[in-house]
Amino acid sequence: MALQVFTAVTGASWESELVGALDREDHGVTVVRRCVDVADLLAAATTGTGQAALLSAELRRLDGAAVARLTAAGIAVVGLVEPGDTRAADRLRQLGVVRVLPADAPAEEIARALRDAVSGGPVGGHDVGDPRSALPVLGLPPEESTRPTGRGRVVAVWGPTGAPGRTTVAVGLADEAARLEVSTLLVDADVYGGVVAQVLGLLDESPGVAAAARQAAAGTLDVAALARLAWAVDPHLRVLTGLARADRWPELRPQAVAVVLEEARRLAALTVVDCGFCLEEDEELSFDTAAPRRNGATLTVLEEADEVLCVSGADPVALQRTVRALAELREVLPDVEPVVVVNQLRRGPVPGDAREEIAGALSRFAGREVRAFLPADRRATDASLAAGRTLAEVAPASALRTGLRTLAAQLSGATEPGGRRRRRSR
Ligand SMILES: Nc1ncnc2c1ncn2[C@@H]1O[C@H](COP(=O)(O)OP(=O)(O)O)[C@@H](O)[C@H]1O
Ligand SMILES: [Mg+2]
Repeated sequence: MALQVFTAVTGASWESELVGALDREDHGVTVVRRCVDVADLLAAATTGTGQAALLSAELRRLDGAAVARLTAAGIAVVGLVEPGDTRAADRLRQLGVVRVLPADAPAEEIARALRDAVSGGPVGGHDVGDPRSALPVLGLPPEESTRPTGRGRVVAVWGPTGAPGRTTVAVGLADEAARLEVSTLLVDADVYGGVVAQVLGLLDESPGVAAAARQAAAGTLDVAALARLAWAVDPHLRVLTGLARADRWPELRPQAVAVVLEEARRLAALTVVDCGFCLEEDEELSFDTAAPRRNGATLTVLEEADEVLCVSGADPVALQRTVRALAELREVLPDVEPVVVVNQLRRGPVPGDAREEIAGALSRFAGREVRAFLPADRRATDASLAAGRTLAEVAPASALRTGLRTLAAQLSGATEPGGRRRRRSR
């Protein structure tokens, strides 16, 4: 049976000729519906009458969410661009369309691309544009995505509920890495209300992360645009501020977040992401591109990151939350191997040698090693919060700060200087 295809190539001069040629000749392809716009295409997709969609880059309102919805509906997507228009081709790839052909390609070749897209065959050699701009697309097998090498690392700072100190650790790591002269981007991706701007004393009127996600969904985000949306806090540190209001979480669509991280890797050697926690009490934890959930952005960050830090508190209640969060993470993203950073270590809540007891408990109950212990130092963190400045600025000699610096050096591959660091002016 011929492959049933929807087309949505309206607005392009070559549309009717192409559709005619596809249909007329025997290419094993039947055009079952010529859609006039994205809404029409999505509506057609729900009928279950087509296996593939052929769409043009000019299609109005085409965004990453629409492509994700088509993919989730089991529709393979092939893009067409004006011959030689590499920007349009790159934009389509950013939106998640892996196969892109010039519109003047022979009908036979377009038909083959459609069949390959459905069967998951190789991405053809007639693509336009820069194939490195192909992004890992959620829901597609890994061989369909190309990852450029030699790019910046992404470290996700995550953890259970109960304020174990994710933001303190994320901000501290980013600041320390920048002080070690590693170009660093700090991203506030906490979908339960980000506070990084406030913690750093930035007067932020509009969340940079929301603007970046918006541009990513529109296919217009590149390194320069991302740099414009971030605060340059010092020569090595940029900050993409977060959603101050928790009810704005739908603005962080998972696919858009993946694109933001891709560009972040091009912008900075190290990207540190302050994530929310993952618990959703009222619903199951899952990836679902068709019906986005609050966890989607967080899970995307955890999946895309090179390293996931799970920040845990150091008392029995906090440890129990950590064990539980790690078990949930293993269920949803079994390939992610987080390492634990135990924060707020102090004498008292855990009897005996706290480090030993905590490390033993996390290894027994969660099967995870502790990468670092960071001491509780309320005096240092309060001074930091009061001044809207980082620990390096207000408590440079504190053990909490030096612990963060050592961890930052490990994560970024920078060498930690033996002596005290010079003060950096902002
Ligand atoms: N090591 C620490 N010692 C003392 N206080 C800390 C430490 N880490 C975090 N805090 C404080 O705990 C509170 C919660 O930390 P925060 O980083 O905002 O947690 P989360 O992002 O996990 O909700 C803040 O007031 C912070 O200053
Ligand atoms: Mg936080």
